[in-house]
Amino acid sequence: MRSRALLVPRSEGETTRQALVSLGALRTDLAIRQEGDRLALPLVADAEVPVEWGSVEEREFVVRPLAGPSDYRDLLDWSPEEKARLPRAFDVVGDIVLVRLPGELEPRRVEVGEALLRFVPGARIVGEDRGVRGEERLRVVERLAGTGSWATRHRENQLEFEVDVEQAYFSPRLAREHALVASEVRAGESVYDLCCGVGPFSVTIARHGRARGITAVDLNPVAIALLRRTLARHGLSDRVRAVEGRVEGFAAEAPPADRVVLNLPREGIKYAPLVARLVAAGGQFRYYEVVPRDEVDRRGKVIESLLPPPGGFVLRSQRLVHPYSPSADLVSFLFERGRA
Ligand SMILES: C[S@@+](CC[C@H](N)C(=O)[O-])C[C@H]1O[C@@H](n2cnc3c(N)ncnc32)[C@H](O)[C@@H]1O
Repeated sequence: MRSRALLVPRSEGETTRQALVSLGALRTDLAIRQEGDRLALPLVADAEVPVEWGSVEEREFVVRPLAGPSDYRDLLDWSPEEKARLPRAFDVVGDIVLVRLPGELEPRRVEVGEALLRFVPGARIVGEDRGVRGEERLRVVERLAGTGSWATRHRENQLEFEVDVEQAYFSPRLAREHALVASEVRAGESVYDLCCGVGPFSVTIARHGRARGITAVDLNPVAIALLRRTLARHGLSDRVRAVEGRVEGFAAEAPPADRVVLNLPREGIKYAPLVARLVAAGGQFRYYEVVPRDEVDRRGKVIESLLPPPGGFVLRSQRLVHPYSPSADLVSFLFERGRA
């Protein structure tokens, strides 16, 4: 059967497949095709995927026998109008499924939880995602279906992360970004991963093996403890120094590094000038921000002008990580410090 398909390198296949499942964009009635060193992932008809993920082309697919529905909403005995009020997308973190629901669906949310528990292979518990709060960006979740705790292990980029979705920030939507940033690290670089959470940037960079030293900093002690467990499980404890502390204190005392990552997208701008001072001459600063969509084209230059010393940094590139809300995007900026 013919279908639109997303073409990706095989090395990115599993991470992209997970991301498409979460977006509700992967057709599960068709078998994924292997084409040399690429995979063709079948897409549901009207699904939109970021252009950076790969090219979209038509392909012929084999129909999978006894495949279930491609959309969890088809498991609900609701009217089409009611189903249309449900989000197509959800997140999968290990064996935990998280879904954001509009307030008016409150009385029926358990039915949604049970449908997702049946729909997502290997799901153990489904929670309503009520957003992140406070300085530690902790997710508020309410159980809808299934059992057990909010602690799990999440696979991305052929690594397995210790995660607790309630006690330390983690987003499965950043898997591709973690891999891209790790691939930018040059041999022998020193790296600071600031606001590291459970450490997906640090662990992915450590696994790539090119960095000379990596320091990961976060104020949340639970996040640092989870990072240390992930490092131990992968035999990478001697590659990453995991520091419990505030970025401000760290930045005041640490020596410069070749590469600095700051992922605090709602408030990072208040630390960006301070953190930029940590970037060595010729080094790079990877910075994240949630930007109103109509400002995305201008924002990079504005941030560039705020980084000290004046004129010391140049915006090298920027990319859309994912849409954040109907009117804003999460954007990844790369600045480079001159050698003078
Ligand atoms: C959006 S999360 C980033 C997680 C991680 N970089 C990732 O890719 O999954 C932001 C993290 O910043 C931490 N944080 C917030 N303010 C901080 C500060 N002033 N100093 C150190 N960590 C901070 C929070 O505890 C949280 O884990």
